[in-house]
Amino acid sequence: MANPNRLISDVSQHLPFGEKRDTRFYGMNIVSVEQFDRDDLDTIFAVAREMRLMVERVGSFDLLKGKVLANLFYESSTRTSSSFAAAIQRLGGSVLQINNVTFSSVSKGEVLEDTIRTMESYSDAIVLRHPEEGSAAIAAGIANKPIINAGDGPGEHPTQALLDMFTILEELGHINGLTITMLGDLKYGRTVHSLARLLALFDVKLHFVAPDILRMPSTLVEQLKARGMLPCEHVNFAEVLPETDVLYVTRVQRERFEDPSMYERVKGSYVITPETMKSAKERMIVIHPLPRVDEISMQFDNDPRAAYFRQMEYGLYVRMALLALVLGKA
Ligand code: ASP
Ligand code: CP
Repeated sequence: MANPNRLISDVSQHLPFGEKRDTRFYGMNIVSVEQFDRDDLDTIFAVAREMRLMVERVGSFDLLKGKVLANLFYESSTRTSSSFAAAIQRLGGSVLQINNVTFSSVSKGEVLEDTIRTMESYSDAIVLRHPEEGSAAIAAGIANKPIINAGDGPGEHPTQALLDMFTILEELGHINGLTITMLGDLKYGRTVHSLARLLALFDVKLHFVAPDILRMPSTLVEQLKARGMLPCEHVNFAEVLPETDVLYVTRVQRERFEDPSMYERVKGSYVITPETMKSAKERMIVIHPLPRVDEISMQFDNDPRAAYFRQMEYGLYVRMALLALVLGKA
């Protein structure tokens, strides 16, 4: 049987931390994908691959022994919260979990800044999900410990974009040259806001498909154009499906609508079924940050192109890599 301690020391030698660890990742806040360049992505994904190997071989190991992660969630979550908790625990650390702030002193009127100051005095890093755009930047501005943005309203979800990109790489082997179609709620979907920005570091063809009222924000489209991308906007996805290598499906973000009747108008605009996927390539993937509501039929789940459940597992390895890099214990 493999000796886990030996594997741990081996992986530590091979983790690609050099000078970069100290200057770039150690103690870093992760607020927006804008802070990453191609070298950073290479480092994060190389460490994520090592994490995958280690989990497959030994399950968990003590890279972050004694480190405490605070998970502070003002909005509901299954994957982000659980995968960060699993990540720190598989690295030998522990987690302080505030998943339902109504049972914390937030319900007594405590402001975000004070809650952050409290949680940082008990932990080494804070994962924050909050309904207001910009909240992670505010938290990062006052905290002395790293803040990891787990979704700030309709703003960004940077660690999701990293795991989305890792999924594409592991499933298709490359990013450059791909045709990537983002479908659904591109207005409020923070995951596509982050991923589209991250893809601007590569040479890809982007299609945005959404009902008119849920189009990608024009400021973001302009930013992408300024970086040399030429995203094409559509309402009908049948016209782009045949050339798509990555179909990124999103849920209509019901909780962001001020007028519920508008949600009713656009919900169910697009539904992926085995039938609709007949015109898609044989070698392509369908990904989704999840949770899904009705935009991908369960009948499609057994199709090999359905990568959204594998995507969740890739998320564990990416989050393990991020914690190891930010807490600098490799
Ligand atoms: N879970 C993702 C997010 O929190 C996507 C979604 O909720 O639809 O942004
Ligand atoms: N993808 C994602 O962020 O899922 P949760 O909302 O369940 O965390």
